[in-house]
Amino acid sequence: MKISIAIDGPAAAGKSTVAKKIAQIKGYTYIDTGAMYRAFTWYCMEKGVDCQNEAACCALIPEVTIKLRPSGQVLCNDIDITREIREPRVSGNVSYIASYKDIRLFLVEQQRKMAAKHSVIMDGRDIGTYVLPNAEVKIFQIASVRTRAIRRYDENVEKGIPCTYEEIEEDVKKRDYIDSHRDFAPLRCAEDAITLDTSDMTVDEVVNAIIEIIDKKLAEMEGK
Ligand code: DC
Repeated sequence: MKISIAIDGPAAAGKSTVAKKIAQIKGYTYIDTGAMYRAFTWYCMEKGVDCQNEAACCALIPEVTIKLRPSGQVLCNDIDITREIREPRVSGNVSYIASYKDIRLFLVEQQRKMAAKHSVIMDGRDIGTYVLPNAEVKIFQIASVRTRAIRRYDENVEKGIPCTYEEIEEDVKKRDYIDSHRDFAPLRCAEDAITLDTSDMTVDEVVNAIIEIIDKKLAEMEGK
C-alpha cells in the first residue's frame, strides 16, 4: 500500500535522523528536502552569487540539477557535495535561498514527482502544509532550542565539521525565524499534524512513536 509520511519542524529537531531510520525499517524512500535547498545554496556560493540577491539566485535555476542518491549522497550538477552542504557557511545562507518562491517551486515540483512514484518519508518545513497536503501521516517534530543546538553541535563534531556551540545556537534561532516568517510556504504545523516534542526522548523512542502512528494509519487504510 502506497503511503506518504511528512515530517516537518524547526531546524535541527532530529527529523532526518528519525526519518532515515523509519525509511530503513519500513522500506520507504527517504527524501531530505532540506538537502535540496542546501545544494542550491552551495551552488549560488560556488558561483560567487550573493545569497541575499533573490533575482541573481533565481537566475541560476536553469543550470542547477540536484540528485539525492539512496545512499544519502547529494549531487549538484553531478558533483558530490554531501559534506559541503552541512558546513556552517551553507547553513548560514540556506534560509535566504529557501525564502525565494521561484526556487521553492522548482524544488517542490521534483519533491512531488518523487512522492508520486514511491512510498516516501519526506522531511522539511512545508511538507504537510504545501508539498504533500494529502500525506496520510503528518508529524510536527519539535524540541527546545538548547536540545536542538546541542544535537546539531554533537553531529557536526562527529562529522569533523568545525563549529562552536554558540555559533550553532545562533544559526538555529536565525533559521527558525526566517523559515517561519517568509511569505511563501513558511514553517508551520499543519492542522492535521501530530506534534511530537522530542526534547526528552531518545532517537529510538521517537522512531517507535512515529512507527506506531504509521502502523495505526496503515491498519485504518487497509480496513477501508
Ligand atoms: O532541514 P535542514 O536544516 O537541512 O534545512 C535547511 C534549510 O532549508 C532550512 O533552514 C529551511 C529550508 N527548508 C525549507 O524551507 N523547506 C523545506 N521543505 C526544507 C528545508
